[in-house]
Amino acid sequence: MQKSPGLLRLLKERPRDGAAIEEMTAAAFGPDRFQKTVYRLREDVPPIGDLCFVCLDQKDRLVASIRNWPVLINEKWPAVMLGPLAISPELRGMGYGKALMWHSMAQSRLQGHSRVVLVGDPEYYNQFGFRRELALLLQLPGWVEDRRFLALELVAGSMIGVHGMIGKPLLPKKSRRRKKG
Ligand SMILES: CC(C)(COP(=O)(O)OP(=O)(O)OC[C@H]1O[C@@H](n2cnc3c(N)ncnc32)[C@H](O)[C@@H]1OP(=O)(O)O)[C@@H](O)C(=O)NCCC(=O)NCCS
Repeated sequence: MQKSPGLLRLLKERPRDGAAIEEMTAAAFGPDRFQKTVYRLREDVPPIGDLCFVCLDQKDRLVASIRNWPVLINEKWPAVMLGPLAISPELRGMGYGKALMWHSMAQSRLQGHSRVVLVGDPEYYNQFGFRRELALLLQLPGWVEDRRFLALELVAGSMIGVHGMIGKPLLPKKSRRRKKG
């Protein structure tokens, strides 16, 4: 039986967590991860800070992380793109991934989001309500294995009629200085 790590603390990700998250994500997803289609949507786009969380153990070591990115479907429907999610290898299969998933989804809804998309194993993500059927009318800007491209309605009916290419969100324009004269 696995040894319990004791109480874990869940925090919003802090700037200082970046390096440990990178290390854990690299170990979980390998060096080819940047080639993945979802990374194209993350390039030059900051994650949603209020939807990025870490778990720390009692020695303040990072043991789990989840991040979420903003996307825009067909230039009109905003959505959250979930991932990456990673749990430290020695703590896998103990329900922490599940806890982080439910937390992230609840926070997404509380912060006003109504739909979530991801690319991941349906065998894992179906238990949270993610469905292949809800993503059938969506496209990603690159190849993904169809069966792993999933969507979730945080609000019933929020995927009805939603279709098209998933793109980057419109980032707020930098305030322009007025020209003198
Ligand atoms: C996948 C991952 C995030 C799951 O987190 P975890 O804490 O190990 O999973 P949990 O203990 O919360 O598992 C919850 C349930 O999902 C099941 N499960 C776990 N990993 C699974 C997988 N890869 N496929 C299918 N089911 C899985 C568990 O058996 C458990 O079932 P139960 O509730 O009936 O007992 C974690 O194993 C991990 O970091 N893996 C490497 C990175 C990765 O693959 N990330 C995302 C997947 S695309």
